[in-house]
Amino acid sequence: MKKDRNEDKNTVTTLIGEKAKFYGVGVGPGDPKLITLKAVEILQAIQVVAIPKSKMERESVAWEIAQSHCPSGVSILELEMPMTADESILQAAWQSAAEKIEAELSQGHSVAFLTLGDPSLYSTYSYLLTILRERLEPDQIETIPGITAMAAAAARVNWPLATGDEPLIVLPGIEGLEEYEHYPNLVLMKVSRNLPEVLNHVQRTGSQAVLATRVGQAGEEIRLLDPEEVLEKVDYLSLVLCRKPQS
Ligand SMILES: C[S@@+](CC[C@H](N)C(=O)[O-])C[C@H]1O[C@@H](n2cnc3c(N)ncnc32)[C@H](O)[C@@H]1O
Repeated sequence: MKKDRNEDKNTVTTLIGEKAKFYGVGVGPGDPKLITLKAVEILQAIQVVAIPKSKMERESVAWEIAQSHCPSGVSILELEMPMTADESILQAAWQSAAEKIEAELSQGHSVAFLTLGDPSLYSTYSYLLTILRERLEPDQIETIPGITAMAAAAARVNWPLATGDEPLIVLPGIEGLEEYEHYPNLVLMKVSRNLPEVLNHVQRTGSQAVLATRVGQAGEEIRLLDPEEVLEKVDYLSLVLCRKPQS
């Protein structure tokens, strides 16, 4: 059945008008064209945009992507999410963010929490969900998926992430990559944390590896990784795609 072009927009406006909702909105990796129509529809009708920030003075890439789609008078709710391994600091930040979001919802304002890439992959959104799921009605929460950075990186170099029966392993900047060296396809995220380990892995396994930094953003850099090169530091927004040579 053919759908009325305005049907989805009306649905969003109606939902926002009827009951305040908490949206987790994936805005894609950076390229303003890699945001979904659904995300744009939500942003066009939203009252409050929640922006997670590791440091309050930093610019938010997610907001740069979303900004042009939001109503001019949209309220901005900046939420401090420190980058730390200290569980008590993290818990306090998530609780405080959840309370601020709840306060907006209780005033009838729908809130869109922005996530770079997809909200279900290594995003603070998941921690907020855990807290807010206990406090909100199930129909007050909606997650809008986004194009992940790994999908965008694979597309930029025209590589498959996995084919046929191959598994795909996604790892978050951890030590102990030997455990995964028999897998054909690895996506290594947050590589600024474990760069020497990543270079060792590429060398040991003879994998082809692509280092992708700020995909789709100003300062994008994408290139084959030479495990022999001296590379001490990479931007936080970097990942590595590894493919073992086919035997
Ligand atoms: C907290 S995770 C967020 C992942 C994101 N939710 C996604 O769906 O891609 C942050 C890591 O994602 C990767 N990342 C996010 N955006 C990126 C981009 N535009 N280019 C390269 N890597 C990116 C980096 O590995 C970074 O350390």
